[in-house]
Amino acid sequence: MSKQKSPGRAIVFGASGNIGAAICRQLAAKNWSISLHYFHHREVALQLVNTLRHDYPNQDFQAFFGDLTQALPPDLGQTFGDFQALVFAQGTTDYQLFSTMSADQIQQLFQLHLLTPLQLIRQAEAKLLQQAHGRIVFVGSIYGAVGSAMEVTYSAVKGAQTSFANAYAREVAGSGLTVNVVAPGAVATAMNAEFSENDLAALREEIPLGRLAQPQEIALWVSNLLDPQADYLTGQTLYVNGGWLK
Ligand SMILES: NC(=O)c1ccc[n+]([C@@H]2O[C@H](COP(=O)([O-])OP(=O)(O)OC[C@H]3O[C@@H](n4cnc5c(N)ncnc54)[C@H](OP(=O)(O)O)[C@@H]3O)[C@@H](O)[C@H]2O)c1
Repeated sequence: MSKQKSPGRAIVFGASGNIGAAICRQLAAKNWSISLHYFHHREVALQLVNTLRHDYPNQDFQAFFGDLTQALPPDLGQTFGDFQALVFAQGTTDYQLFSTMSADQIQQLFQLHLLTPLQLIRQAEAKLLQQAHGRIVFVGSIYGAVGSAMEVTYSAVKGAQTSFANAYAREVAGSGLTVNVVAPGAVATAMNAEFSENDLAALREEIPLGRLAQPQEIALWVSNLLDPQADYLTGQTLYVNGGWLK
């Protein structure tokens, strides 16, 4: 049991996902209390909450539902009281030619990765600006920098997350609120479960480190950015990609 002072509460969107869950485990180990968001996988989130409550009895953990493709997000102020950090680790891709995507599919990807998070940040801004060390982190993607055929809209929203962080970080700089993106290359998660073993082998060959990342190797950088001592790093995108693509 840790006697260190808690840095506060983080709200982690996509906590039921592979990267989001790894982020929650690392934040909990660094004394954070956490509100864990899920969409379809309620049981996964509840199980993680139970584990974290058992392992860190002096911190607070709770799960909450939200479909972030909906324009009306959960009301953060009313629901969570005080919090110091927002982490956006939710997301899906849509693997097809740009020309075959419907307007609705394009809209949904923008809503999930960008538009709803921006609404949530607007809701949270006053509270985050009051904190000594407010934090916003997006889990972006290397594709936001280099682009990917068959994932054109996904690349566009990931690039927009990086552009948003660049600009918004400047607007709130000086208040202690930092805004950054952790942009993975390929990570061994459910999102890549559709690839065949041949495709994965070809992918591994392209990556200088010769393997996909583990979720905790992405979570490490998110949890470091949330550290109260990380005030001087803002407006950045950290490419955690095993040397791949950039
Ligand atoms: N895996 C990779 O190779 C990779 C590479 C670069 C970037 N990323 C980014 O990393 C982030 C996390 O991905 P992951 O690999 O951890 O994928 P994952 O395991 O599939 O997790 C995806 C998360 O997004 C949530 N989600 C899906 N649709 C949602 C919706 N409509 N509303 C709210 N939440 C929704 C899921 O909730 P439920 O499970 O509860 O439905 C889950 O928590 C994403 O932003 C992804 O773009 C991943």
